[in-house]
Amino acid sequence: MSVTWNKIPSPCYLLEEEKLISNLQLIKRVQEEAQVSVICALKGFAMHSVFPLVKKYLSGATASSLHEARLVYEKMGVKAHTYCVAYIPNDFEEIQKYSDYLTFNSLSEYERWKNKVHTNISCGLRVNPGYSEVTTELYNPCAPHSRLGIAGHLLGEHLPEGIEGLHFHALCENDSYTLEKVLASFTKLYDSFLRQVKWVNFGGGHLMTRKGYDVEHLIKILKDFRQKYPNIQEVILEPGSAVGWEAGYLVSTVLDIVQNNDIPIAILDVSFTCHMPDCLEMPYQPRILNTNEKGAFEYYMGGVSCLAGDYMGTWKFDKALKVGDKIIFDDMIHYTMVKTNTFNGINLPSIGIWRKNGEFELVNSYRYENYKNRLS
Ligand SMILES: Cc1ncc(COP(=O)(O)O)c(C=O)c1O
Repeated sequence: MSVTWNKIPSPCYLLEEEKLISNLQLIKRVQEEAQVSVICALKGFAMHSVFPLVKKYLSGATASSLHEARLVYEKMGVKAHTYCVAYIPNDFEEIQKYSDYLTFNSLSEYERWKNKVHTNISCGLRVNPGYSEVTTELYNPCAPHSRLGIAGHLLGEHLPEGIEGLHFHALCENDSYTLEKVLASFTKLYDSFLRQVKWVNFGGGHLMTRKGYDVEHLIKILKDFRQKYPNIQEVILEPGSAVGWEAGYLVSTVLDIVQNNDIPIAILDVSFTCHMPDCLEMPYQPRILNTNEKGAFEYYMGGVSCLAGDYMGTWKFDKALKVGDKIIFDDMIHYTMVKTNTFNGINLPSIGIWRKNGEFELVNSYRYENYKNRLS
């Protein structure tokens, strides 16, 4: 049932349950047909009020810190696959309570911790697969001078004792044809090691829920990989974006319209820097519902923070905007929600779910204490 916008408070991240379920169904089909495990990357999707739903379809979750691992354990009821760029000494014992896989980013990290790893935990190493097509340096794990993953030539002849898995992460919103090329490089560089391990993790960035993604091709290359390495018991994929892809919105409201130059700026009750930081970092211009490239009324959207660059544009509308109008940013569920901050003391948007039966459920809202308690 489509969303009744006037039932939604502003500002609010709104997840459409039906859209999430359709993403999860597709991911489940990939798991079943390719016989792989797909786990949810919390860095991209950590809306824990729907973890019970996610758990019905996916094989668990991956964490990159103690807090993410604990959230997986408490809210999904499973142990996390944990990979940290470096393990924080004070966290290492506790992180093992919530994890059943630990991946290490360097040989020195593994050497440092290997004698403290509990016997029920399976250890892996993150390696650099030597190929990636991510053009934005900020998001390219295989960029020159990358600190993420061991470069192939450092591994020597044998994997260190106790290592049972290999992990790479080299994709960002890529398709299966890019994965195929990454796998060609990965298997060439690490073939002998791949014949020694029990599991392999292909990281995230598999945007299988995007329209036009060739899911059948993904299934085929996963099956081919499994056939090539029959010793590998588990092939794992850990997407974040694909879980929440186009599954919801950031609902905002026009507070004022200013015009100091040729094009007017609608000032909103949200902020790009606080509530949609990826738009400025990447950068990319998000879609807004009910805009029209040929519309006669053009606006910048201005954030409510005082950062000079907290605006983007432009977008065109068929009708002039007025104070009180709703501006609905599309595809704002993955990453955006996780990366919010309270710069300027600006409140965080509420979080809500548009249930598939057409009801709105407010799952969280924020107040002064949330801002105050982060600081001291
Ligand atoms: C190690 C690792 N795994 C998984 C992911 C999730 O990637 P995505 O959300 O693009 O699928 C990331 C994203 O940065 C990552 O660094």
